[in-house]
Amino acid sequence: MPHADTAYIPQGLSKAEFWQYVYDQLASLLEGQRHWVTNLANASSLIYNALLAFTPHFGDGDRAVNWCGFYIDSPFFPTPRLSTSSADDPIYSHRLLLAPFCGKPACQLINVAPGKARGVCADAYVQRKTVLVRDVERYPGHIACDGETKSEIVCPLIATSGGQETVVGVLDLDCLALAGFDEEDQIGLERIANLVVNSCDW
Ligand code: SME
Repeated sequence: MPHADTAYIPQGLSKAEFWQYVYDQLASLLEGQRHWVTNLANASSLIYNALLAFTPHFGDGDRAVNWCGFYIDSPFFPTPRLSTSSADDPIYSHRLLLAPFCGKPACQLINVAPGKARGVCADAYVQRKTVLVRDVERYPGHIACDGETKSEIVCPLIATSGGQETVVGVLDLDCLALAGFDEEDQIGLERIANLVVNSCDW
């Protein structure tokens, strides 16, 4: 079984080299596995732990990434089989649900319905493009899950199948520092989001 060693990040990497390293580790980790829950669980752990080891750009100090994970469109979650809940229950209606992540507990539901969408994740999902937030307090509608978060980046997960593109959710990272993420991180994370989403069956 392929394995990725997230505890080891070579010293002195540039950001571009770091993101390529994480990409290669992730590609190896996801090989031969197509279930989205399993792949997103491993992807969030690998990215989060790699960033904690990537000093001086991030690391485990005041520039640390304090949350890394996914929100996925509710129709992709399993429908209940053993309980009496109805699939028509509002909690199963179309919205982003908390999916595999690393970090502190976070908000479970994010509304993406027209006129009700609010926050960084909803904006990235609805607009189908990455949202890079240098100061979360200045972002209208930002949903604060952890009061210590200062900046954030959210990439849409766009699955490509039969020439058709479907947005299935988002990859979200939070940082303790203002302007924690830059355009180089955006390029690296967009490649990783693309790898992850297209390594899964939806
Ligand atoms: N800040 C996000 C909510 C998710 S947490 O950051 C984990 C938002 O505004 O959508």
